[in-house]
Amino acid sequence: MEPWPRVFVLLAVTAAVLCTPLVNDLEPGKEWPPRNSVKQPLDEVNEPAKLQAIPEEETATGDPINDNLDIPEPEAQILTKTAFDDKVDYTGAQVWKVETNKNSIWLTIMRLRRRNLISTWAGNHSYVDVFIKPNAIENVTRVFQRENISYEVVIDDLQKRINEENPPLDENDIELQDRQGHRMTWKQYHRLSDIHDFMDYLAKTYPAIVSVKTIGHSYEGRDLKVLRISNGNPTNKAVFIDGGIHAREWISPATVTYFINQFAENFDVESDDIKNIDWYFLPVVNPDGYEYTHVGDRLWRKNRKPGVLGRNCIGTDLNRNFGYRWGGKGASSNPCSDIFRGSRAFSEPESRAVSEFISSSAAKFSAYLTYHSYGQYLLYPWGYDNALPPDHRDLDVVGKNIAQAIRQAGGTTYQVGSSSGLLYPASGGSDDWAKGQGIKYTYTIELRDTGRYGFVLPTTQIIPVAQESLAGLRVLAKQLHA
Ligand code: ARG
Ligand code: ZN
Repeated sequence: MEPWPRVFVLLAVTAAVLCTPLVNDLEPGKEWPPRNSVKQPLDEVNEPAKLQAIPEEETATGDPINDNLDIPEPEAQILTKTAFDDKVDYTGAQVWKVETNKNSIWLTIMRLRRRNLISTWAGNHSYVDVFIKPNAIENVTRVFQRENISYEVVIDDLQKRINEENPPLDENDIELQDRQGHRMTWKQYHRLSDIHDFMDYLAKTYPAIVSVKTIGHSYEGRDLKVLRISNGNPTNKAVFIDGGIHAREWISPATVTYFINQFAENFDVESDDIKNIDWYFLPVVNPDGYEYTHVGDRLWRKNRKPGVLGRNCIGTDLNRNFGYRWGGKGASSNPCSDIFRGSRAFSEPESRAVSEFISSSAAKFSAYLTYHSYGQYLLYPWGYDNALPPDHRDLDVVGKNIAQAIRQAGGTTYQVGSSSGLLYPASGGSDDWAKGQGIKYTYTIELRDTGRYGFVLPTTQIIPVAQESLAGLRVLAKQLHA
């Protein structure tokens, strides 16, 4: 889908706001009942979501610096767009893995980030991946030499990696696309329309178990499509799985759609653990951002709603916009930041739709999994600060069992821990919000790799990643029946 004319976007957004019930494309006879007044019990210590609003002006002038270890603080457009195809060109941009064993190194990294010379991509307490624009490489090299900071160049020309990431399909796969009724292959990263058509195809082909519902619309008016797989057993527990909160993490929607395909196409022969769960999948939470990574900037992270009127910067980090401890550590009030929290909790249509769907659903959600990349982590709450929920031991045990299954299936090692403890505090995450709703098994899963390709993971890894992740998901399903 190409960017739409402004007027149309306005109309679409207005329509979405005014007539939400009319635009939901419920399958006939497949209505998913909303939850009645009965709420799920909350953990005593789980405070209900606090919605704190801040005035819009404050965000415009708010602190431009976020010194917590997290992802970047660049201006919205990092590099120039080439006249030819209007895409951001990353020729000569590099990614370095930097050892951060000393506190002083962190201070340097943050100083360089503030001066817009670098962005930080992924990291924990011992290293950070640093993205450097071509014209900053000389400068940064000098600073690192002077301060004796050791680093390894992991990607020496990012554009080259981008060009090689998603090659065209060969003839056999194109033929397969024509035969199977949808265009998904898991040998390529697909556009949103392929993903949505695939979901509709499954609902049409397996109406007894599969249904699709549009739970809302993105800022630019794209559908937020949830696919449910259920055998209708009234005692089933429910699991909500999403992907693509962050636009550039392409492996995430690819993995979530792989799960959908596996369960829907093989339901009859699936295990009872899988069959007796109501599965809800939202493969692309951020469809505007996802499409933009295909046509504009491969490394876009946020959604595409303008931050604050009158400022140029676009996008809110949807994983800083959820209403549990919103506005705390590890989120920025600067609309130009890549971790902009939004003007208030749930200021964004995408995060609002997810929360409204989950909290008004009749389903008893026992697990919430949100797939991201990269780093190979299984993270449980809390994310907002260094604190743990009362049942953190349960989350740790199950997380470690999932990680073990992943390792056995694909030889890939995942680290397990709380996201604030293992990575860094970051508030407003969807995981914290889900946990705050009383959903016990809540995890953020950071898929492959650990930085060799980072966000630009080659398509040959899609099936291996999805298969090992599925092995992990089976462990969770088993746990829910224990
Ligand atoms: N990489 C993810 C992010 O920065 C990790 C989120 C973990 N969860 C959290 N609530 N901090 O958004
Ligand atoms: Zn992410």
